[in-house]
Amino acid sequence: MEISLSVSRSTPKRHFEEFTIPLQKGMTVLDALIYAKENLDHSIAMRYSCRMAVCGSCGMKVNGRPMLACYTQISELKSNRIKVEPLDNCAIIRDLVTDFAEFFSHHKSVHPYLIRNDVKEQDNPVKEFLQKPEEVEKYLQYSYCIKCGLCYSACPTVAADKEFPGPQALAQAYRYIADSRDEGIQKRIDVIDTAHGIARCHFAGTCSSVCPKGIDPAQGIQLLRRYTLSLKR
Ligand code: SF4
Ligand code: FES
Repeated sequence: MEISLSVSRSTPKRHFEEFTIPLQKGMTVLDALIYAKENLDHSIAMRYSCRMAVCGSCGMKVNGRPMLACYTQISELKSNRIKVEPLDNCAIIRDLVTDFAEFFSHHKSVHPYLIRNDVKEQDNPVKEFLQKPEEVEKYLQYSYCIKCGLCYSACPTVAADKEFPGPQALAQAYRYIADSRDEGIQKRIDVIDTAHGIARCHFAGTCSSVCPKGIDPAQGIQLLRRYTLSLKR
């Protein structure tokens, strides 16, 4: 059996190119692309590394939906016609490779690491910072983020406002604010509670529906919004 793989190419101008791929059991969209690149056209540009939904680098639109190519089996798509395109909301570098500079700059802006006031303790640690299971539960799902950018590409607010940090960065802000060991709340609030910040989210929920790791960034944004409102009371 064969499938038809339609690949978005960016040069000389944007167009689709069709490849016929012999289907194998368990074949993923990434396997099909690798087959096309190795056997039919070496010039197809795509990004991948781990092939196991860990590195977050193979995100692309598959039949119109943001997905990880390595984590999507052809059999799941229930079609022998597959169309792959670069993710939305990011500039195209070439073919399926997009520029994540803005995405990572938003991620960096929310200080995605634990911030502590006791610098002395950080330099010369003398104790552990223990947490109860219920404290870990508050942020655990957000710590599974692989920074694949699928939620960012699916977000209608990001499409309209490039200064909006996006679901990934906001969910990460919540991940650290909700961590009982963290003391960097104000630094993050200054970044996210602005005219282009959390108030811009209108809860379309597309971010959560495309996340391959089962994270619910929309919920993180809601919790973050509740938290910032409670600070104003
Ligand atoms: S929240 Fe999910 S979709 Fe968004 S970057 Fe993280 S893993 Fe990817
Ligand atoms: S290749 Fe690493 S997530 Fe797909």
